[in-house]
Parts: sequence; structure tokens; C-alpha cells
Amino acid sequence: MRIAKLELPTPFAIAPMAGMTDTAFRRLVKRHGGCGLVVTEMVSSEGMVRGIDRTLEYAEYTEEERPISIQVFGGDPGTMASAAQIVEGMGADIVDVNMGCPVPKIAKHHAGCSLMREPHHAAQVIAAMTRAVKIPVTVKMRAGWNDEDRNAPTLARMVEDAGAAAVAVHGRTAEQSYSGSADWDLVARIADQLTIPVFGSGDCLEPEQVMNRLRSGVDGVLVGRGVLRNPWILSQAADLAAGRPMREVTLADRGQFLLDYIDLLMNERVREPEGFRHGAVVTAGNAPRTSHDRWVINKVRALGSWYTKGLDNGSHLRTAINSAESLNHLRDTIGTFFCAVPA
Ligand SMILES: Cc1cc2nc3c(=O)[nH]c(=O)nc-3n(C[C@H](O)[C@H](O)[C@H](O)COP(=O)(O)O)c2cc1C
Repeated sequence: MRIAKLELPTPFAIAPMAGMTDTAFRRLVKRHGGCGLVVTEMVSSEGMVRGIDRTLEYAEYTEEERPISIQVFGGDPGTMASAAQIVEGMGADIVDVNMGCPVPKIAKHHAGCSLMREPHHAAQVIAAMTRAVKIPVTVKMRAGWNDEDRNAPTLARMVEDAGAAAVAVHGRTAEQSYSGSADWDLVARIADQLTIPVFGSGDCLEPEQVMNRLRSGVDGVLVGRGVLRNPWILSQAADLAAGRPMREVTLADRGQFLLDYIDLLMNERVREPEGFRHGAVVTAGNAPRTSHDRWVINKVRALGSWYTKGLDNGSHLRTAINSAESLNHLRDTIGTFFCAVPA
């Protein structure tokens, strides 16, 4: 599929997930195949424009992740346009706008899903951004703010008119948060109405579901929690799409993924050759080793809470990961769990 002039290798993408889809995780998923697009965690437009180091780090990516979309949030058209220029200057392929985040901290600043309550303002934000950059500007929204206002079909048309190159719709309202189920009929209706590509998002935990959703009429599928549970899901969906037998994932593969994730995180912001990472000019401080280890352990714990779901004895692994106090302990825990259980 394509977004403007950008050809995506497959119609399957890693959905943006704050705190989860960091560059290390995205690279590993990408290496397993089937991934047509990766989207960063959401990044504050205000923080970008003010040059806050921590904010800019969230937007960093590596060459192997292409095509890459950097998602920004904010509600001020001028600031969002400037953030889009920073994203373009970083060499990203797409700048995506978050209109789906229901978290009050974000929504109260006229950002995230609260933009869906002010569709004319939301369209102005997109118009300002599309005027400011040449790369495609895309929008990720929900079904609406609440059940009384499921206005995604109207807003999708408005942002298309304002110059958006694609939209993604998570078929739940902000009020629903993650309860109930995603309304894929609504998503398919929007795909039918628009001329730009429409991605659907929500509740694809198995590769077969990803394929079924693609067949429902959307141009592409963004997979969120399903990738955190099974990082091979996009490659398995691509197998199904190509009529190949789906690749099998062994317990050893699953263990290796976590070990590889630790290794990549250990190398984050250290020992990388110049030019390896595309980022705004930021000098990341040299954190003491112990605090870097602590950060890695916390990242693995966060992934572990999703990754262990649906595994036999997954709750034991989750508890063990959460109580590991050192990286060696963490590696031993993972090694023991994934090798000791008979395949
Ligand atoms: C932990 C977590 C963090 C998320 N962060 C973002 C985000 O930063 N930006 C965004 O547009 N959506 C975010 N989402 C929503 C997902 O992109 C996705 O649309 C939603 O989870 C539904 O898809 P799923 O059922 O495949 O997970 C997040 C979801 C989760 C579970």
C-alpha cells in the first residue's frame, strides 16, 4: 500500500504505544518481518519545539526502522507546524498527529482525543502542518469522544480536506478507553468514504484477526497490544496474506526476543557509531551505569506485563521478572523459564 508517494512494504504496522514502542522494540519487531510501518511513541509538540532533551529522545529512530512515522501531540496549530518541521528535519517519512489519547493530562490541553471535540480546530491544526512540511501528515483518532459523539466519519473527511495523507481509526471512544470492543464496522465505513488510505486499529491479538480486519475493507491494520504479546504477529499475518504457512514461534524464540531486547536497550545511547541514529541535536547525559541498568530492568518489566499474557505459567514469569533486581538475574530468569519448559 502507499501513503502519498511512500510505498509501504506491507499493510501491517506497529501501533504507537507510549512507554512500549521504543526504538529497540521497533527494531526487533521489524527484524522479524511483515512490518510495513513503525510509529513512535507519542511525542509532545511543545517539548520538541522547546528542545527538551527527554522529549526529543522519544522521537529518535534508526535507519533500519524505515518507513518511520513520528507521532506528535498538541493542540496549537503553530506549535504543531513547528514540530512537524522538526520531524521532517530529522528525516522521518511521516508525521502523525495523535487525536486519540484519552488521558486527561493530555486531553485537557486541547490535545489527543479532545481535538475530536473541536473538529474545526483539529482541521486547522492539520492544515497548518501540511502547509509547513512536504512529508505526509497523517492522523490517528478514535471513534469519537463518547457514545453520543461518534464523529470519526466527519472528522476523517475534514482532515482529508485539510491535507492529511492517511488516517488511522481505533474503533473505541475516549470514554470507553479500552473497555468493550473496537467498532470495525465504523472503521470500514470511513475507509469506504475517504479517498486517502485508512488504517484500522483495535483488538487484533491473533494473525488471523489481522487478516480478517484487512479483508473488511481497510487499507491497513495497526496492531498494538497484539505485538506486545506476540512480536511475530505481523510476520505471521504477512505469511497468511501471501498464502504461506504461518511461521511457528518456539519458546526458545520467545526467550531470545527478550534477551535481544535487553542487549539493544543496554546499547541505547552508548557506543553507537556516529550517524547510526537520526535524532535532533541533543547531548544525552552519561547516566551512571547502575541507573542505566535500572532503566533497562524497568523497560523489560513493562514489556513483561504484556509479553507473558497467554503463556503457560506466564504469571510466574511475570512475577519472576518483576522481582529480578539485576540484569544477570533477569537474564537467568528468562533463560530458565524459556529453556526449562519442554517445547
Ligand atoms: C500501552 C499503550 C500505549 C498507547 N499509546 C498510544 C500512543 O502513544 N499514541 C496513540 O495514538 N495510541 C496509543 N495507544 C493506542 C494504540 O495505538 C491502539 O490504537 C490501541 O491499543 C488499540 O489497538 P490494540 O487493540 O491492537 O492494542 C496505546 C495503547 C496502549 C495499550
